Amino acid sequence: MARRTTRLGRYHLTNRIAYGGMAEIFRGFTFDEEGYRHDVAIKKLLPDYVEDANFVAMLEDEYRLVSRLRHPNVAKVYELVQLQGHILIAMEYVDGRDLRTTVQKGHKTRFGLSYADVAYIMACAMDGLHHAHVAVDEDGTDLGVVHRDFSPSNVLLGYDGAVKICDFGIAKARRNRIETKTGVIKGKVRYMSPEQAFGHRLDRRSDVFSAGSVLYELCTGHPPFQAANEIDLIFRVREANPVPPRQRNPHLPPALARIIERSMARERSERYPSALALRDALVGFLKRHEPSYRRSRLARYMKRLWAPEIEADLRLLEDYVLDLPTGVPDDFGRNLLADAMGPDAPYARFSPRPTRITRAGSGQASAEFAPEITWGELTAGKTVVTPPRPDFDDPTEDGTGGP
Ligand SMILES: Nc1ncnc2c1ncn2[C@@H]1O[C@H](COP(=O)(O)OP(=O)(O)OP(=O)(O)O)[C@@H](O)[C@H]1O
Ligand SMILES: [Mg+2]
Repeated sequence: MARRTTRLGRYHLTNRIAYGGMAEIFRGFTFDEEGYRHDVAIKKLLPDYVEDANFVAMLEDEYRLVSRLRHPNVAKVYELVQLQGHILIAMEYVDGRDLRTTVQKGHKTRFGLSYADVAYIMACAMDGLHHAHVAVDEDGTDLGVVHRDFSPSNVLLGYDGAVKICDFGIAKARRNRIETKTGVIKGKVRYMSPEQAFGHRLDRRSDVFSAGSVLYELCTGHPPFQAANEIDLIFRVREANPVPPRQRNPHLPPALARIIERSMARERSERYPSALALRDALVGFLKRHEPSYRRSRLARYMKRLWAPEIEADLRLLEDYVLDLPTGVPDDFGRNLLADAMGPDAPYARFSPRPTRITRAGSGQASAEFAPEITWGELTAGKTVVTPPRPDFDDPTEDGTGGP
């Protein structure tokens, strides 16, 4: 049976992909002035957060910075918009799965990530993280971006082998809100740095520690810090004294164990000084351990691991029919970042109307006259293709590719 998309501002929403403590996430799409479709992920804040003016103001502040980030390993933020009582974050859709569910599925199916996969994924993620850490504004002033919530669920893996970090800027806004309420940052402790668990001022080395914790878990199958409750977990993290990774997994290559240990040093000054330095260490490991590793390897892994889900997603999307009533005035809401993003911001090109679609077999027909357009037609149409995105390709020596 056909399902109708839900129109929200410039976007058409299809299925909900996640429902979390803070937001619902939908898959959706929109069109640019050429009629090309762009897939988007729409994060719709839950009412409790929308009503919290302080949280929204913090989110606005943070997203002013985050919306400037442009890097193949960072999921692009298109806009933060207030619309019909909702607050939406529109971002680039990454066609794939996050690292957390990928690891879970890998365990379940006994087809886990290899050390080379892990090194590659984390090296790409560190590239994205470093880009954010060193980002400056037009005047060259350091934006001081620290992710604060670098965790497996915020690393997205595309079926095409893309690796993209998301959710920059949310943790800071959320921190104030939850800390003032309970004194504890619920459910967010596992990958924290010790200085974060103490509530100290953070710099980029805090993210390096979190990356070390994620690496630890990927390489040993256990999170570095575990406890019966959140409070004890905070104490474990503050001690920063996990079981040595090779004690957990004697097969772990010593070079990788050393990388984990240095990333997770309790003293900031003993860690890698930047995400870039950690990336270089991982690339060094990858080049020795598996010099022929390419992005296509990760793509193959993802496609194989998630084959049934990819098929099911395709079938689900094919059933959607674009619901675009004519004669209804467009309401795009209020873009909370419009000033910061300027007139050339990517969202400014987005429209819910696929005005210049050429439909397969039907010649030049405007979508407005087409009674129903299905997702299948949108993807199979002669001219409706997703334009190539600037992206990493196979790692190359010239420094333009992945590690
Ligand atoms: N841009 C995106 N493209 C595709 N899928 C996404 C995108 N953003 C998020 N998702 C999916 O939605 C899931 C839920 O995201 P959400 O950020 O709400 O929760 P979380 O990552 O589990 O927790 P948190 O971000 O609060 O640490 C992600 O794990 C991912 O699978
Ligand atoms: Mg997230």
